[in-house]
Amino acid sequence: MMDVGRHPNINLMTYSQVESISGYVGNFHVKVQKKARYVNADECTACGDCAEVCPVIVPDEYQQGLSCRKAVYIPFPQAVPSASLIDMENCLGTNPIACGKCAEKCDKKCIDYDMKDEVIKFDVGTVIVATGMDVYNPTELDEYGYTKYENVITSMEYERLMSAGGPSDGHFIRPTDRKRPKTVGFIQCVGSRSEKCGNTYCSNICCMNTIKDTLLLKEHYPDIEAKVFYIDIRAFGKGFEDLFKRSKEAGVVYIRGIPGEIIEDPKTHNLNVMVEDTTANKIEEHEFDMMVLSVGVTPRFDMPEVQQLLTLSKTPDGFFMEAHPKLKPVDAPTTGVYFAGCAEAPKDIKDSVTQASAAAARAETLLSAGKVKLEAITSTLNQDLCRYCAMCSKVCPYNAFTVDPKNKTITYVEALCKGCGTCAAECRFGALSMKHFTDNQIIAQIDAHLAEDPQDKVIVFACNWCSYAGADTCGGARLQYPSNQRLIRTMCSGRVHEEFVLHAFRKGAPMVVVSGCHYVDCHYIDANRWTQKRVEKLWDKLEKWGIRPERLLLEWISAAEGQRFQKTMQDIEELRKQVTKEEIEYTIKVLTKEEEKKKQKLEKLKQKQ
Ligand code: FES
Repeated sequence: MMDVGRHPNINLMTYSQVESISGYVGNFHVKVQKKARYVNADECTACGDCAEVCPVIVPDEYQQGLSCRKAVYIPFPQAVPSASLIDMENCLGTNPIACGKCAEKCDKKCIDYDMKDEVIKFDVGTVIVATGMDVYNPTELDEYGYTKYENVITSMEYERLMSAGGPSDGHFIRPTDRKRPKTVGFIQCVGSRSEKCGNTYCSNICCMNTIKDTLLLKEHYPDIEAKVFYIDIRAFGKGFEDLFKRSKEAGVVYIRGIPGEIIEDPKTHNLNVMVEDTTANKIEEHEFDMMVLSVGVTPRFDMPEVQQLLTLSKTPDGFFMEAHPKLKPVDAPTTGVYFAGCAEAPKDIKDSVTQASAAAARAETLLSAGKVKLEAITSTLNQDLCRYCAMCSKVCPYNAFTVDPKNKTITYVEALCKGCGTCAAECRFGALSMKHFTDNQIIAQIDAHLAEDPQDKVIVFACNWCSYAGADTCGGARLQYPSNQRLIRTMCSGRVHEEFVLHAFRKGAPMVVVSGCHYVDCHYIDANRWTQKRVEKLWDKLEKWGIRPERLLLEWISAAEGQRFQKTMQDIEELRKQVTKEEIEYTIKVLTKEEEKKKQKLEKLKQKQ
């Protein structure tokens, strides 16, 4: 951080918050609120005299609340800039000045109670999102008595207790009697890999963090007995297995089993756990002086705000979704935005540094090129057909459209379009289309598939990223699915226009399937929500027209679900066999009539406008 602070080409803005980001790749407009520190950071020498006289005492967040700080303080030892700031929420007040002791004490006259927040605006070409992570809060599920028993601490608190700069000056003590514990237990996967706490993912770092913690403990206090309760130890990085071995050789006992709860002896404050040791195949009871909960990693609490600022997508676990897990692992789906560190997934320091270097290189490549190449698959707007209904601006996940229905203006920034095609599927006036996936191209594919024996075919619209890739996985694994199913690829299920489905039915298809990524997995943020809405509307319409809605299916299949794809297609084939010739004929008749009516209605609407 020091190097970053000193670098001539880096403008480090600490104690600041990004308020808004607009624009697009190569042209992002950023507004940052630089919060008032109330201490002149250029003059402050971090002598700490001000903190000495400050009468306010509050829990120190950096020390996990295990010790206290003053209202004027340096947030942590290596803070950049190395200067104090005043926490105005806890200061006794400056208007009027209620205390003023820090200002009196400061020889350099660095305290400025009148300092104001500043708003700074600037433009950048690319953005790297490195928001970091939070740790799981064990008070949510209190089976380990974290809120009741003082001797149950988290791995973060353990770090502070072991640190020379920590609240106990590096002396490892147990909170209830401030004596050195003789036995310490570690429970793994607290807040990870559990349906109960809602975090089903592995937090990636906890196993190695505990191994490191036990080695540290054994190095400092060889006489302390340490036991680790685990599901399985994931020591998969370079040199990690050796570290695990060293920990065992140092005398740390690893027990495969997770205790259900911790019970404290009220007299001794010792902690008892019952556990099923699945290696020894027996139930065991253990007693400890202290228990450390190895808490997992969670997405930052303010991720929804960052998500809104940059129109990013999230994976079901709440971390940001990359553009492609293999080919673009550091790119966000929004061009010119990259990820570094735990913003994208839980990772350790080494992986975070690797990703940060990759993100910097990706950003630099783009900036040094001077020009930005965009995806060829974007929407095209025909201004003459546009009736300014503003539907496109409502459905576009990337805010590529700005429509003013009153003044009848529409602005479309093609650089913002990522090509999901939802706008084209929702536009009632045909003003929007998508390059390479035009209405005509898709209708032509439907016609070709249903040219012969349409009653035997099933039309399957599959999104490029998930369902189509799922079909690939299915084929790659040599899983067979009925050969009468005809896949039509669209970039996103959001592109599937209602008319495509109706056209297929009019052409005699017994069944139509719309398939895409699972709900929160859509590669275009939330475009598939519009797919769902559209299909639901279509089901209602079909029912109203006397057509069985079951003939139109909506399926979410991911790229990894080859088997699911096979099973779904086999089930659909069974349903297809139940569709009678009479049903198909009736459908064609009704839908042709409806098409005629719709054309007339649209014509009237256009004339009106
Ligand atoms: Fe698959 Fe949107 S990308 S449904």
